[in-house]
Amino acid sequence: MKILVLGGTLFLSKAVATEAIARGHDVTCAARGESGLVPVGARLVPLDRSAPEFGSLVEDWDAVVDVARTPSWVRDALAALADRTKHWTFISTINVYADDATPHGTPETLPLLEPIPDDREQTGPEVYGGNKVACEQAVQSSAKASLVIRPGLIAGPGDPSGRYSYWPSRLADGGEVLAPDHADRDVQLVDVRDLAAWIVHCAETGTTGVFDGTSPVARLGDVLAQTAAGVGAAPELTWVDPDFLVEREVNPWSGARSLPLWLPLPDYAGLLSHDVTASLEAGLRIRPIEETARDTLAWLRDNPDEMKTGLTRAEERQVLEDWHTIRA
Ligand SMILES: NC(=O)c1ccc[n+]([C@@H]2O[C@H](COP(=O)([O-])OP(=O)(O)OC[C@H]3O[C@@H](n4cnc5c(N)ncnc54)[C@H](OP(=O)(O)O)[C@@H]3O)[C@@H](O)[C@H]2O)c1
Repeated sequence: MKILVLGGTLFLSKAVATEAIARGHDVTCAARGESGLVPVGARLVPLDRSAPEFGSLVEDWDAVVDVARTPSWVRDALAALADRTKHWTFISTINVYADDATPHGTPETLPLLEPIPDDREQTGPEVYGGNKVACEQAVQSSAKASLVIRPGLIAGPGDPSGRYSYWPSRLADGGEVLAPDHADRDVQLVDVRDLAAWIVHCAETGTTGVFDGTSPVARLGDVLAQTAAGVGAAPELTWVDPDFLVEREVNPWSGARSLPLWLPLPDYAGLLSHDVTASLEAGLRIRPIEETARDTLAWLRDNPDEMKTGLTRAEERQVLEDWHTIRA
């Protein structure tokens, strides 16, 4: 197949291009080339989507995969290429849902945010979900055959966000490890390579519709235990009450002084608890967490500057000492 990846120089879109090449497809990537290199075997066509010139890309494509979050970029690509493209995949996000609190939701059961089609006035996290809804709608109304995939947390080698990478790194160091809340919390994440393999599979099979792209729900305690096993560690987890974490100014999810994979309940009880039966039936395959953990740690050791999120070891130690003191 002739596949065009709009992107291809970073994380998921690069993994899609890599997977498509491995399966013998003819792969073109269109990007500025600022985020990195396209995989060996792909052709890079320079494209700046803030002032796009699609001329050299206007040809017949079996499949296009777009990861953009800016509605005007998505509309421009559709206007230039949709007529000559058989199958169009848009990579959206689970942040398109207006309800993050209800567990076991699906694309059929969860309400969407209002679309925000105008990307000139606002950018950033507060409009991310609404922008993605507008992008989805543009693809659904213009593409000949459209597939919308809404990933949850994407993990694995090359992750620019570091939101899962904290755990293989921390658990590999061993000793007493601060863990958020309790082991029975729901959690979901998807290895970037599994998501990419499924995206290419869907293009090959002409799959259409809307699917969430993440793993079946797991227990946080199991995910951390499997992560530890994957990096050959046997740490001692200390589960700390979320109110105490908030009091000690530990942030949930991501960023500085945060505990990744921790989200406040009940507001986010549904975000990492989707029912993905339909995605698995459509061909999504999930590898063992141990493998994601091992490969993520290996990548981090080669790229130490990519460890961007989570508590520092000193911050973690202080919170644990305070926790033991108040419970003594
Ligand atoms: N990470 C997660 O946990 C997560 C969760 C849910 C959904 N998602 C979604 O998954 C997708 C991830 O995509 P990704 O990993 O490929 O990263 P991304 O940051 O969404 O996309 C990066 C690609 O866009 C290209 N790009 C950026 N600015 C450009 C411009 N002005 N002109 C042309 N190309 C431009 C970059 O290439 P150059 O910079 O080289 O031009 C790069 O190839 C996104 O849609 C994201 O919303 C991610």
